[in-house]
Amino acid sequence: MWLLILFVVIGLFGSESFVEANFTTNCTIVAKGNLKFPKKFSFGVATSAYQIEGGWNADGKGISTWDEFTHNYPEKIKDGSNGDSAAESYRLFELDLQALKQLGVKHYRFSIAWTRIFPTGDIHLKNQKGIDYYNMVINKLLANKIEPMVTMYHWDLPVGIQKFGGFFNSMIIDQFSDYAEELFKLFGDRVKTWITFNEPNNICKSGYAPTLIEAPGVGDYICFTNVLKAHGATYRLYQKKFAKKQKGKIGITLDIWFVFSKTNNTDDVARAMHYNLGLLAYPIFSKSGDFPPIVLKEIEKSSIEEGRKKSRLPSLGEYWTKIIQGSGDFLGINYYTSRYVKPATEPMGKNPSMERDINVQMDFDPNWPRAKADWLYCVPQGLEGLLKYIRDEYDNVEVKITENGWVDSGELNDDNRIRYYKSHIQAVLNAINDGCNVTSYSAWSLIDNFEWLKGYTEKFGLYYVNMKSNKKGRIPKKSALYYKKVIATRSVPNDV
Ligand SMILES: *[C@@H]1O[C@H](CO)[C@@H](O)[C@H](O)[C@H]1NC(C)=O
Ligand SMILES: *[C@@H]1O[C@H](CO)[C@@H](O)[C@H](O)[C@H]1NC(C)=O
Repeated sequence: MWLLILFVVIGLFGSESFVEANFTTNCTIVAKGNLKFPKKFSFGVATSAYQIEGGWNADGKGISTWDEFTHNYPEKIKDGSNGDSAAESYRLFELDLQALKQLGVKHYRFSIAWTRIFPTGDIHLKNQKGIDYYNMVINKLLANKIEPMVTMYHWDLPVGIQKFGGFFNSMIIDQFSDYAEELFKLFGDRVKTWITFNEPNNICKSGYAPTLIEAPGVGDYICFTNVLKAHGATYRLYQKKFAKKQKGKIGITLDIWFVFSKTNNTDDVARAMHYNLGLLAYPIFSKSGDFPPIVLKEIEKSSIEEGRKKSRLPSLGEYWTKIIQGSGDFLGINYYTSRYVKPATEPMGKNPSMERDINVQMDFDPNWPRAKADWLYCVPQGLEGLLKYIRDEYDNVEVKITENGWVDSGELNDDNRIRYYKSHIQAVLNAINDGCNVTSYSAWSLIDNFEWLKGYTEKFGLYYVNMKSNKKGRIPKKSALYYKKVIATRSVPNDV
């Protein structure tokens, strides 16, 4: 087994390598091949319910973990704010629609607030006004030839579900797939692209409320396992009951920083990728299923050394491995940035923790331009490298870029955002020219919105929203005009 892994790794990284350690650092990338995107390629934008909708208790909506968290712990949000009103898309969807039409997008990725439709999370109690809202959104999009791409869960868990333990309790498998089944029944005649979960990495590692058990290296793995099972069960349910008639596609969205090695150490890169992406992608998209063998083996070894009776990350087992393997029609990718990796010189993180299990040091190049967020450096080569990695590692599965974007303070003349989009959209085109199966791109985000723990201090929008005004008009930034030109020309223009 070990030899096999070694050969695969050498085979993968030894040839035309995507571990390109030397590249320009000024947020640019060299164009390679065709200068136009394929005709079928879909450009769109993305948002999520809690970040834009507001109307937190309007028309019978229930309370989510994010409502509760921001209300109970305002001090944990940088500006003490919350999503009670946000951009008020619940009241002002028409403004979003106008912006979408102005951009000329082919699709719109948004999420459904579970609590708007099922206030307690449980499907026995249905809120018709919430259903009406999403019907209105979907119908207006379609009337304007904009394809809806729907995320079922983007972090706003009903507190009624959290009370059972949320993702720590395997009850979530039924709770989620019951909810998903209702969504298929309600909207599946018109929605053809579904994303079960957005960024399980963040769901499981950062947590979504302080009430969660802090259990690194244990709880996060339980959460990953339950997310995978809920996703797999939902996929099988759709295939059994809806696929024939509705003909939709179901995927999952994973967030991932690509990694490079300064010393071209392919082993470091492979290990980091198996933990950071493989933990969730491998069980669904690899030929063998289950967690990556190297991850299973290493964590079992550490667990036994820690005096445990079994691994903190047990195999998914035969039954679930089968259900989860192949349970994705596409892989959604949220890409923002990259890092360098090298082996840690001393044990990383808490004992135990996922950080300790991975045990690599992450580093960045101080020459990479940095956004307002301290984690976001502009590394377009990482996106091209990641797409080639997925092509080679996961049999060229269909990839949808479900998020990519740049954060600043909200300025209208946002040249740095244009520079970021320009180089990253070029990176996607380069990857397509190199045979990568990428079919769509969603810019994050349509409008300025509630940026989780950063409140309204960090802005990702193509459109500016004055959060203090009642009108909350959507004002195009310079980057909106640039993206409009990208879409209209299916190319990467030099400027607006
Ligand atoms: C790493 O690989 C690249 C491309 O193959 C090469 O140009 C570079 O010199 C290598 N760097 C080191 C430190 O070996
Ligand atoms: C791209 O993905 C789709 C869906 O999984 C698949 O049918 C197709 O064969 C893939 N294309 C290539 C070139 O691999």
